[in-house]
Amino acid sequence: MKILEAIGDIREEIKEARRNNKSVGFVPTMGYLHGGHLSLIKKAKEENDLVIVSIFVNPTQFGPGEDFESYPRDLKKDSSLAQSMGADIVFSPSIEEMYPLGCSTYVEIEGDITKKLCGASRSGHFKGVATVVTKLFNIVMPNRAYFGQKDAQQVAVIKRMVKDLHLDVEIVPCPIVREGDGLAMSSRNTYLNEEERRAGTILSKALFEAKERIEEGEINPLKISYFIIETIESEPLCEIDYVEVVHGETLESIERVKGDVLIALAVKIGKTRLIDNLRLEV
Ligand code: PAJ
Repeated sequence: MKILEAIGDIREEIKEARRNNKSVGFVPTMGYLHGGHLSLIKKAKEENDLVIVSIFVNPTQFGPGEDFESYPRDLKKDSSLAQSMGADIVFSPSIEEMYPLGCSTYVEIEGDITKKLCGASRSGHFKGVATVVTKLFNIVMPNRAYFGQKDAQQVAVIKRMVKDLHLDVEIVPCPIVREGDGLAMSSRNTYLNEEERRAGTILSKALFEAKERIEEGEINPLKISYFIIETIESEPLCEIDYVEVVHGETLESIERVKGDVLIALAVKIGKTRLIDNLRLEV
């Protein structure tokens, strides 16, 4: 497996792959890889000849006061994990490589899809994500790109962007990978102390119990939200950012829990902001 830092070097590899009619699968990440990331790499390997994993903590998607500086980084460990899952190339550019001096072009997706849920409390976040993902797509030019449903809004935004900008890449959403006790895997879980980590299990518990209520016939999205809020508030360490029951693709509000439904939430535990969700076909 190669570790490349320069855009020019990646382009050479891609050209070579194209000459040999190889399909390219791409897994963009910010590193500190865990089982969730590895599931994407594994799927990419199953479906493509060449798998590229990018590791880049993207400054433009972090707001002021967020955790850009403290975001965990371990390129050595990440590289060996990526290799063990069959990655062919790790692309780990510097900030200067991705955003050279004078860089002033951004990609912004308008509307509810970026303004709601995480967009409401992290203004500019999806502009940063869309910009870096477009840059990475232009560098790697993959046939398929793999994204986790853990970041459900990110998947919806990227799909919208690919459609709107006529980008020639297939977006492959992949299921959420969870710890044994239900907590969705996340690089940010490392911020949690023992007590916070224990409290974190209430997020998936609330979501799965809400799913049961829906299966029992509850169709009122507000009642589902209230139920989740009550459940999470029973845990004193949790401070809710949002709980929303919306359409799974457009993220628009719904009046009845019917069809493609996304139940999404963000909760602060201590200083750590965690997200989780369930997508259901009702
Ligand atoms: P990062 O948080 O590192 O996540 C990289 C990819 O792994 C994303 O597609 C994310 O949804 C997926 N992922 C994370 N946790 C997961 C889990 N528990 N189960 C399944 N998939 C999971 O998302 C980003 O980085 C960045 O915004 C990025 C797209 C790389 C742009 O900078």
